[in-house]
Amino acid sequence: MKTLLLDALQCRNKSRPPIWLMRQAGRYMPEYRALRAKHSFLEMCHQPELIAEITQLPIRAFGMDAAILFSDILVIPEALGVGLRFEDGVGPIIERPLNSAQDVAKLLSIDMHDRLNYVVDGIRLLKPTLNVPLIGFCGAPFTMASYMIEGGSSRDLRKTKQWMLSDPTSFHQLMDHLAECAIASLEMQIDAGVQAVQIFESWAGMLACAQLREFSFAYLDKIVKRIGTKVPVILFCRGASSLIPETIKMNPQGISIDWNADLAAVRQIVPPTMAIQGNLDPHVLCAPLHVVRKEAKRLLEEMRGHPGYIFNLGHGITPDVPVDAVKTLIECVQNH
Ligand code: CP3
Repeated sequence: MKTLLLDALQCRNKSRPPIWLMRQAGRYMPEYRALRAKHSFLEMCHQPELIAEITQLPIRAFGMDAAILFSDILVIPEALGVGLRFEDGVGPIIERPLNSAQDVAKLLSIDMHDRLNYVVDGIRLLKPTLNVPLIGFCGAPFTMASYMIEGGSSRDLRKTKQWMLSDPTSFHQLMDHLAECAIASLEMQIDAGVQAVQIFESWAGMLACAQLREFSFAYLDKIVKRIGTKVPVILFCRGASSLIPETIKMNPQGISIDWNADLAAVRQIVPPTMAIQGNLDPHVLCAPLHVVRKEAKRLLEEMRGHPGYIFNLGHGITPDVPVDAVKTLIECVQNH
C-alpha cells in the first residue's frame, strides 16, 4: 500500500508530494464515458459494483496516489427524501425543494443509517482491490442546503440567502440536521474502510465573512471535532481564501486551497503541522503540455520541502480535459 497521502496528512512525508485530482473519475475519461453510456449517473452512484469499478478507473489509467470514492455530495439530500435527478446539460435537480420551516421539521425524523447502505457496500467491495489510500467525502451543510433550497445549481443562491437572513432559526436547525447527517455518513464510510475524508464547502464564496462564520464554519467545526479523531479531515472551502486564518482555527489535518489563492503566501500562515492541498487551476489542463509542466513545477517549487504538501487542483477537473494532460501532470509530480 502506497502511504504518501497519509504521510503527508501527518506532515511526515519525506519524499515527493502525493497527487490526486478532484473529480478524477469523470467524463474526461473514455472509460467513464463508456460506462456512462450504459447507466445514468445516479445508477452509477447507487450500485456497489459500479462504485467500486469507477473509483478505480483513474488509478488504473494514471496511477494517482489516492482514490476518492465515486459518489456525490447530493446522495445525502436524496436520502432525506427531497427527490434527486441529474439532467444532461443542466446538472442536478431537486424535485421537492425546501420552502419553509415545516419542510425542515419533516426532515428531522429521517434516519440516514439504512439509506446509504449502497455506499458502504461499494467501499467494502472496493477496498481489497486498492493499492492506494481511499478518501471518503461529504458536502458541507451549507452547500448541501443550497441545492435543497434552490432546487438545483444556482448562480446567486438568492433563495438560500433570503431564507438564511430572514429566518435564521430554522436555517440553523437545517444546518444542524445536515451536519448530523454528514457526520453519520462519514462515520459509515470510515467504518467501511475510508482512510481520510474531504468536506466540500463548494459555495463558501457566496457568503460574506460574518455569514460564513455563523452558517458554515460553526458546523464544519462540529464535523471536524467529531470526525478528525478517527481519520484525517481535509477541508475545502471554495472561495474562502480570505478566511484561511479562521479555517486553520478549526484544526483540520489538511486544508484544500482553491486556485485563486497564492500557495506560497498560504504556506506562510498555515502551521507546519497542517497539510496543504492544491491548487492548480483546472483549466491549465486544457493548455499545451509544456504549460501543464511549467505550471505544475511552479507549485512544486513553491511547496518544496513541505512534508504536508498534497498536489491537487483548485477545483474539480472539467470534462473537456485531454487525457494526455492528466498523464503529463501525474508524471511531472511523481518524477519530481
Ligand atoms: O472526485 C471524484 O472523482 C469523486 C466523485 C465526486 C463527484 N461529485 C462525481 C460527479 C465528488 C467528490 C463530487 C462532489 C460534488 N458533487 C460537489 C462538490 C465539489 C464541487 O465540484 O464543487 C458538488 C457541488 C456536487 C454536485 C454535482 N454533481 C453537480 C453540480 C453536478 C453536475 C455538474 C457536472 O459536472 O455535470 C454533479 C455531477 C457529477 N458528480 C458528475 C460526476 C462524475 C458528472 C455526472 C455525469 O456523468 O453526467
